[in-house]
Amino acid sequence: MPSLPSIFKACAVCFSLLSTTINGLASSFDPPIMGWSSWNTYRVNIREELIKKQADAMISQGLKDAGYSFINIDDGFFGYRDDDGKLHTHPERFPGGLKSLSGYIHSLGLKAGIYSDAGSNTCGSIWDKDLNGIGVGLYGYEKEDADLFFNEWKFDFIKIDYCGAGQELSLEERKRYTEIRDAIDKTVGRPVYLNICRWAFPGTWAKNIAQSWRISEDISPTWNSVKHIIEKNLYLAAYAKQGHYNDMDMLEIGRGLKREEEEVHFGLWCIMSSPLLIGCDLTTIPEASLNLLKNKELIALNQDPLGLQAYVVSHKNGGYILVKDVEKERSNTRAVAFYNPSDTTCSLYLDLKDIELGGKVEVKDLLRGRFEGRAINSLTYTLAPRSVKIIKLKAEKRLEPVKYEAEWAYLPEYSDLGTKKKQVHYAYSAEASGKRVIRFVGGSSENYAEWDNVYSEKGGKYELTISYLPEAQRKLEVDVNGTKVTGLKLETFGGKGIATVTAHVNLKAGKNIIKMGSSRYWAPDLDAFTLKPLRE
Ligand code: GLA
Repeated sequence: MPSLPSIFKACAVCFSLLSTTINGLASSFDPPIMGWSSWNTYRVNIREELIKKQADAMISQGLKDAGYSFINIDDGFFGYRDDDGKLHTHPERFPGGLKSLSGYIHSLGLKAGIYSDAGSNTCGSIWDKDLNGIGVGLYGYEKEDADLFFNEWKFDFIKIDYCGAGQELSLEERKRYTEIRDAIDKTVGRPVYLNICRWAFPGTWAKNIAQSWRISEDISPTWNSVKHIIEKNLYLAAYAKQGHYNDMDMLEIGRGLKREEEEVHFGLWCIMSSPLLIGCDLTTIPEASLNLLKNKELIALNQDPLGLQAYVVSHKNGGYILVKDVEKERSNTRAVAFYNPSDTTCSLYLDLKDIELGGKVEVKDLLRGRFEGRAINSLTYTLAPRSVKIIKLKAEKRLEPVKYEAEWAYLPEYSDLGTKKKQVHYAYSAEASGKRVIRFVGGSSENYAEWDNVYSEKGGKYELTISYLPEAQRKLEVDVNGTKVTGLKLETFGGKGIATVTAHVNLKAGKNIIKMGSSRYWAPDLDAFTLKPLRE
């Protein structure tokens, strides 16, 4: 794995440009970070000795060898800001300050992470009555704190929370996080990992600022919490790309979940390329949980050089099947998760054509680490309640895709902050093929849906069939590689279930980009589209 500094340049906006050749890989981006964070177990009750012990345990438990490298100090280290605006650490909890502590972490060959708030007060000051968290946030002290955290104390990562900035100061997220990123870049002459902690997908702007962004409220060590966060991330695969990831929050492995629940938790965090920050006490972690956290095959899915998040290819019988390319784009190897979130047994059937695999397909179970033989045409698994089966498939052939679901699209205007009434989003629809449609696309030329991975082996003429929910006064503009598709006649009366509209389009060999939207009117709710080659 390439180390951070070798890939990163000095500014964050450079990160997305770094699709250079590294260690001989055709394209490589920083994988999600792996490490430990203090919050889940200790909340604000942290101290220097405790952090050192956890850092030591990271090594002695074999976690560093497994790839975990960050020791992140969350809320609770703040002391006060003095009259000159200088921030001080908590006099009892961190009497030696954080410079020597980050030095200790670095001396173990690990990286050090810190925490702050975009406003004046920390979340701990509000929710944990930690009075030392008052007036210690970044607001008004962006450069001073950046200088302290990264130049003086030498931290490598920062998580920036939003309690003080949001509920207290009502700041606008994009503007606020951009100001902070700019201040860090101007003050610090080396790369700093930034995590946006705004408890909901903040908008596609986040990738220009942060390496990861939280997509949900805080996790807790309960099945419902784990299940809820997975649900929130199921349709966000289009936003996790090239070193920028959806953060499903710190891990609750080793904190009382049942074995199969832990497998779901770790397995899904891995295949969905979330940062992996362990949240338990590493000195007392149960053996089975430790072994799960060290599962090489699952970690490889998480740290895969393509940096992709698995997307939902099928949602039936209350279960989900997710898939992603691994190792090399469009190769014959793919990773698949069969996930049963329900409290009853569920049978999940996968037609291998639907994940573009043909011929004989070799199956490896990644949780158990064993080959399970070969499959042809299809796979069916019966899953116990609250369980997952994660497999790697190696097929004889990779087939050309036929169908693209609406819920796989990248929506440049998507956000989960709840600030707009008619916000473009992935909505439930009983009639839609994957039970999801895109709602509220259109109304402006910026609010469109994009599939940037429409693949044709040879290129040529195709029949494009779009399925949608018809409604009055909707318009649809479709664009293939920058060329407008003409002659699309939509049905205009609602209440008829799914309708389709067809056109002929030209695809080039390789990747194509299809965009759908409507620059003045709303577009209809979109369900999916198919592409059938036309023989001439
Ligand atoms: C918020 C964050 C948590 C944690 C606490 C600290 O709730 O979402 O992850 O950092 O603040 O107070």
